[in-house]
Amino acid sequence: MKLYIENFGCQMNVLDSQLIAGRLGRDGYEVTARQDEADVILFNTCSVREHAEERALSHAGVLKHLKRRRPDVIVGIVGCMAQNKQEEIFERLPHVQLVVGPRKLGAIPRLLREIQASGGRRIAVEETDEEYIDGAEVPARRSNDFQAYVKAMEGCNMSCTFCIVPTTRGPETSRPPEAILEEVRRLVGQGCVEVTLLGQTIDSYGHGLKPAIDLGGLLRRVHEVPGLRRLRFITSHPSFVRESLIEAMRELPRVCKYVHMPSQSGSDAVLQAMRRGYTVARYLALVDRLRERVPGVEIASDWIVGFPGETAQDFDRSVALMERVRFQNSYVFKYSARPGTPAAAVREDVSEEEKRRRNQVLLDMQERISREKNQGRVGQRLEVLVEGPSKTNPMRQTGRTETNLIVNFDAGRDLRGRFVTVEITEATALALYGLIAPGT
Ligand code: SAH
Ligand code: F3S
Repeated sequence: MKLYIENFGCQMNVLDSQLIAGRLGRDGYEVTARQDEADVILFNTCSVREHAEERALSHAGVLKHLKRRRPDVIVGIVGCMAQNKQEEIFERLPHVQLVVGPRKLGAIPRLLREIQASGGRRIAVEETDEEYIDGAEVPARRSNDFQAYVKAMEGCNMSCTFCIVPTTRGPETSRPPEAILEEVRRLVGQGCVEVTLLGQTIDSYGHGLKPAIDLGGLLRRVHEVPGLRRLRFITSHPSFVRESLIEAMRELPRVCKYVHMPSQSGSDAVLQAMRRGYTVARYLALVDRLRERVPGVEIASDWIVGFPGETAQDFDRSVALMERVRFQNSYVFKYSARPGTPAAAVREDVSEEEKRRRNQVLLDMQERISREKNQGRVGQRLEVLVEGPSKTNPMRQTGRTETNLIVNFDAGRDLRGRFVTVEITEATALALYGLIAPGT
C-alpha cells in the first residue's frame, strides 16, 4: 500500500504528517511522492488564513478526476481544516471519504481499514486525546536523521480574537517530560543532533502536569541527553517568557539563543482588540531583558496588518516597533477573518489594497533590517549545522547557525548532518555566504 501525504501549514503540521506516515508505516504503508500511484492520499491542512484553506480545497478538488479513474483510491482531509469545516468538506468535495481533526490522527489507520472493508465515509473530530499519536510510541517518519521536531505541548488556551487555532487544536495539553525524554533519547541514539520542541505556546508548557514543571525545567532535562548538540523551541507567547526560561537560555550552552515571539502589532489599541494580553511597553521590556540576560539572543516576530480598526497611526506604531527591536526575521500576514472568531464579527475597515500596502511596508523594512544585521556578521566565524547541498547548486552546501541564520558555502563533498565552522564573507537579507574554516 502506498501513502501520498501533502502538508499545508506550520511546523506542527509537518510533524503531524511525519507521525501519520510513521503510524501508517506500521500497517505496511510506504510513502510515495506520486499521487497517481498512491492508494491513500491525505492532505494535512491549515485554517489560520482563508487562503490556506482555499489552497488545500483546490488541491484536493482536482483529485476528483483521479478518483473517477481509480475509484479505490481513498482521499482524506486531516488537520485543522478538517476540524474547522467537518462535514462541510464532504459537501464541497464529494470524492473525499475521510475527515480527521488534529487531535484524532491516531484514528486514521482504523478508519482507513473500515473504508477499505465497507466503503463510505468516516469522520473523527471529537475533542478527546484518546486517539493521539505519541512520538515516543510511534517513531515519526522524518526527512533526515540528524534533526527532529518533538511535540512538547499542543493546543492553545489563549483567546486571541483573530485566531482559529484554539478551536481547531483544542485546549492546551502538555506531554509528560518522561515521554519527551524517552523520544529524545531514542532520536539521539539514532544520530539526531538537533531537536526542536514544538507547541502553539511552547513557553506555557507544563500546564496541569504533576510534579510541576515549566519550559525552563523541561529544557534543563532535555539538555542533559548525551549526544544532543542543539535544542530549539517554538513558538513563544510574550506573556509566558518567564524568568526560569530566560535563566535556562542563559545557562545551557546547547539551548539555541533564538526566540520566536510574535508581537502581532505595535499599537496598544490593536493589541487590546486582539486580546493579546500585553502592551507594547511590556513587550519591549521583555525584549530588553532577554538581550541583557542572554547575550547574542535573536528574536523573530509575526505581524498581522489590517486587523479591523487598525488605523494609519496604529500601523505606524507597528513600523516603529519593528525599527526599535530590529528583529532577526518577521512573518507578516494580512488579516484574514476566520468565521466563528470574535474578530470576524467586527466589520472590516481596512481595504485589501491598503492591507497589501502595509504588508509590503513591513516586509521591505524587515528586509533592510535583516540585510544590515547580516552585513554586520561579515568576518565572523559561525558554527553551522549542515543540512545538505543547495537545491540550485550541488557544490554548494547550506546549513543554519544557532540563531537560525542560513549559511551557504562551497564544499567539494556532502557534509549533511555535520557541524562546520564558516567564516562569513558576504551577506544578503536572506542568507550569509562564506568559506569553510580549514580543519572542519
Ligand atoms: N502561536 C501559534 C500561532 C499560530 S498562527 C503557533 O505558532 O502555533 C501563526 C501566525 O499566523 C500568528 O502568529 C499570526 O501572526 C498569524 N495569524 C493567525 N490568525 C490569523 C488571521 N486570522 N489572519 C492573519 N494572520 C493570522
Ligand atoms: Fe492563536 Fe493566540 Fe493561541 S495566535 S495559537 S490563540 S496564542
